Amino acid sequence: MTGSLRQRKRLTRTALPAAVLLVVSGAVAVQSTAPAAAAETTLRAAAAKAGLFFGVAASPNRLYPIVGQEFNQLTPENDMKPDRIATSSGGLQNTGGADTLVNHAQSNNMLVRGHTLVWHSQAGALQGASQATLNTFIGNAINRWGSKIAYWDVVNEALEDNNTGRRRNQWPHTMNRDANGDGDYFDAGDTDVIRDSFIRAKQVVQAGGYSTKLCINDYDVEGLTVQGGGPNRKANALYDIVRTYRQYIDCVGFQSHFNDNPNSIITNDLQANIQRFADLGVEVHLSEVDIDDDLSNNDIGAGQAENYRKVVRACLNVPKCTGITVWGISDSESWRSSERGLLFTGGNGNYQKKAAYHAVLDELNKGRTTTPPTTTPPPTTPPPTTPPPTTPPPTTPPPTTPPPTTPPPTTPPPAAGCSATVSLNSWPGGFVATVRVTAGTSPIRGWTVQVTLPAGTTVTGTWSATASGASGSVQFTNVSYNGAVNAGQSTEFGFQGTGTATGLTPVCTAS
Ligand code: XIL
Repeated sequence: MTGSLRQRKRLTRTALPAAVLLVVSGAVAVQSTAPAAAAETTLRAAAAKAGLFFGVAASPNRLYPIVGQEFNQLTPENDMKPDRIATSSGGLQNTGGADTLVNHAQSNNMLVRGHTLVWHSQAGALQGASQATLNTFIGNAINRWGSKIAYWDVVNEALEDNNTGRRRNQWPHTMNRDANGDGDYFDAGDTDVIRDSFIRAKQVVQAGGYSTKLCINDYDVEGLTVQGGGPNRKANALYDIVRTYRQYIDCVGFQSHFNDNPNSIITNDLQANIQRFADLGVEVHLSEVDIDDDLSNNDIGAGQAENYRKVVRACLNVPKCTGITVWGISDSESWRSSERGLLFTGGNGNYQKKAAYHAVLDELNKGRTTTPPTTTPPPTTPPPTTPPPTTPPPTTPPPTTPPPTTPPPTTPPPAAGCSATVSLNSWPGGFVATVRVTAGTSPIRGWTVQVTLPAGTTVTGTWSATASGASGSVQFTNVSYNGAVNAGQSTEFGFQGTGTATGLTPVCTAS
């Protein structure tokens, strides 16, 4: 990264004394029912009120008071990686750092994300291990901390760089076998380290009766598209994996290391991509956030703050986006310090809030209401954040849609009209369509949008709606949480397809 060589603008600020920070213990479980409560003054309290966690990556030598004051979730930055804790036969060693972090989290009412079980990098003594050895390690690690770990990253960074949409071609993925040669590892006769590791992890969680949820985590998967508007094939590949193995996968981490790599920018379809994963029934987390100041012309003032606002808002607008974790406390202590991508400056326990901090706090304090604000009452039963409910057994199909967040109006409104407009992101051979449904002069309770696709065009994925088919005349019907739209207000759904979709004329019918 060349940023450190540049002349950088420096933000002048007044350091705030640490004493003004408010300790809010147990805030993770707090849900507010008050209509207009005073703004919260810490990230964790504001997030808890909105129904999500706000976490930080941490190390044992940096457990300063700010960790428990500002954050209610902790991810060991390095102390639970196989190169720290795994022996070559899948046993555990050197768990002292991890134990310190778990204990600190417990005494500060923080959730823990275990990071990470199966990864090509920082594999240490497990490098080159067989699936059987990986399974041994998975069992030992999950059992050591049990339900003290709310989320485990079971598989990390399985997909190749450069937007190919392929699995990595290095261990552990070299164990994979595509038996029928159809280009995926999803068939009964195939070998897939992702599937087999999740199956093992799920067995261990169930046998132990733990509340732990099992996540897959990756980077450059945040947007539906990449720079220039082409499809994000890495995100699509992750989506296929989660959809196929949904019975073993409870959560998805979008690492969210945003920078000026063409595949790592912040795109306007971040929310739509979070939504399509949420529509599979999994929780979505922005699990390792940092935002390179290159994305704000080296401005770590208002420019970077706006980028943080966009990212946090995209999560808040999707009820099953249940947590955001920043990858460190301060710029100088970050793994990418030259990018100045975090919420604080300073170091060694003495930190100063950046403009980005204030933007995040402000956005969290606005809660999950979508913009522009509507007159719809706020949800009174947001999804629980802790402790997670007992994970259903793999044989039981999980719900495929998130719980409703918009309570129905108390008196049924009259049936009324709606309209729909479509915007397209096309590339040779494919497209993403975003459809905006707008209620007429009366509120609507549900909607169906009919679209006639040209011959040769096929829908390959839909989010925030249910599609009746894949080609020809296709009807898209609202899902549970976006059917009710107030007069003059809008909601969006999307679909992706192969072929061309120019000249679509969506027809909206309200109920
Ligand atoms: C990074 C740590 O922050 C560094 O301290 C370490 O040297 C390398 O790993 N994706 C991940 C994290 O999943 O584990 C990585 O953490 C950052 C990228």
